[in-house]
Parts: sequence; C-alpha cells; structure tokens
Amino acid sequence: MGAWASEVTRKPMRRVIMNDPIVFYRREDGGVAAMEDRCPHRNYPLSRGELVGNSIQCGYHGLTFGPDGQCVYAPGQDRAPSAAKLRSYPVVERGGIIWIYPGDPADAASQPVPDLEWMTDPAWTPWIDGSIYLRCNHQLLTENLLDISHLAYVHKTSMGSDPDRIAASETTVTPFDTGVRRRVRIADIPTPSLFAASALVQDRIDQWTESWMIPGLYQNHTRVRPASSLSWEESGEAPLQNRSFHGIVPETESTTHYFHGGARLNVDVETITGEKAHEILEEDVDVLEAIQENQQFVDGRPIVNLRNDGTVMQWRAVLRNLRAPKAA
Ligand code: FES
Ligand SMILES: [Fe+2]
Repeated sequence: MGAWASEVTRKPMRRVIMNDPIVFYRREDGGVAAMEDRCPHRNYPLSRGELVGNSIQCGYHGLTFGPDGQCVYAPGQDRAPSAAKLRSYPVVERGGIIWIYPGDPADAASQPVPDLEWMTDPAWTPWIDGSIYLRCNHQLLTENLLDISHLAYVHKTSMGSDPDRIAASETTVTPFDTGVRRRVRIADIPTPSLFAASALVQDRIDQWTESWMIPGLYQNHTRVRPASSLSWEESGEAPLQNRSFHGIVPETESTTHYFHGGARLNVDVETITGEKAHEILEEDVDVLEAIQENQQFVDGRPIVNLRNDGTVMQWRAVLRNLRAPKAA
C-alpha cells in the first residue's frame, strides 16, 4: 500500500517507503503520479515544489518533471537535461487505496492487486482512512497481528477475556506461497466488553477469527456468537461480525506506516467503529514502541517461545522461503 486515496490530491504528498522518498500527486485527469521525491539538481524534495498542469516543479531552481519522471523544463536553457530522469512508480487506485509497485515496473502489470471487495460491500458498514505512525520495525507489528494471546492483556478493556482460554484457542494455520491463513476458535469465554452491550449475545461467547497475512497486508474476519459447541463448519452466519484491514508499510528499519480500516455487519451496538479500532490499535503501539526501544539493549539475548507462537513461526518460515534465492 502506498497511501489512502484520500491522501493524494493536487497538493504533492511525500512518503518514505522502504527508505525511498516518494512524492504522490494527482494529475489533472485525477490519475495518480508517484515518483522519487528528489530533485536531481540538488536533492531538494520535489514535494516541496508545486504542480504545473500534470508536471511537478522543483521549488529550488524550477526544474520541472512530467508524471513519468522525465525533466521537461529547465529555466534559461533551450533544452531540459535528458539525464534528469526520476524513478517513477506504477500505481493502481482501487477501493480507496493507492497501491504502488516498488519492483521492476515491467513486472507491475502481472502482479495481483489485493482483493478487498468487502470494504465496499453495501451489506457492511465500513470505515477506512485510519493511520498511525509507528516507531518500530514492521515485523514487530506483523507478528503482533498474528498473535492472539496478547488480547487478554494489551486489550483487556475491549477485546480481552479469559487469558487461559484465549491462549489455548484452537488454531489452524495454512501456509501458502506468499503468506499464511489462520483460523482461530476461542470457545466459551466471558463476553469481551467490546461486544457486551449487544443483545445478540449473552454473557459467554464463542469467537471465530479467520485471518490472512501476506507481506504488508493483514486482513481478518471475526464472527461472534453465543457460546455453544458448534464447529467452524456448523457455525453458519454469526450474529456479530467484523472485518479489519491492516496495511503494514515499512518506512525505515525502525519506523512503519500503519494503515487501518474495517467494517461491521449486523452489529446492534455502536461500539465497533473506526475510532474504537484506532483506540485499540494505539494500545499495540505502546507495546511495540517499548519493545523496539528495549531491543537496542537486549538484542541477541535468548528469546522464549510459547505454544501460541506457532502462527508466527509458520509466518517466519514463509518469509525465509520468499527471501531464498530462486532457482533460474
Ligand atoms: S534543486 Fe531542484 S532545481 Fe535545483
Ligand atoms: Fe493488538
């Protein structure tokens, strides 16, 4: 993910992604341009300049670049220097999100854009445009999202419930080429306060969560119903449901852009909203930034894993495999 669509306007917007400064803006036809945020004359950020039609003009000495990154104008010179060519990025706008392709542009067209149809499904009540600037490495966030047992502690006052039952939940992880899919069934727990005001459940619930993680993107679908002995297959449509979207975009080794959105279905209480989600995620931010800070002192010391960390282990194996050199 590069940005929420709402962030990209006729005013240039700078974002550093994986150590590359990028400027985003809209062309006159509404399409999105994304290119290196660096004027090749003296490295001044182009995002501090201004738009001239479809082009962007450097605010230092006026070099002007088209949306493909080619310099089209140099003040006082007959011709723009042809060597003044910026890296430009393929982008796709879909479902309120600007996706950016940081690999070889020639491969961009064959890369799938994540399917987030549910975010625009009229049956659901969605929220989007959430973002948090996180002062920690992106893998800390990724692994936090794959970790269920912290709910009882970090999110005590919202999603938390019986810590033993949560940590001992029935979990099935299915790795695939680029990620993992996980199903978690937390059975017969005291209703977390987030759902407690609902007339659709009583004082104990079952909570099923199905999640998908690929690099940079986590989605989940939670179904909540009165406690019973039903299995996944028998459960059918649950009375309370919500989905969430988490865009995990590394800025640097130690900072991350965290984008979030979600949607609720059939919820009779107004507790599940974008504001509430933001409040809950800020609890993770506190934990993750404290870990990042502590790591500078303790990195390399032995780490203990728990039974519930199986999903994270499978995720790490998928990443190792993705990073391994591929046979020609
Ligand atoms: S730094 Fe951009 S034109 Fe000089
Ligand atoms: Fe969390």
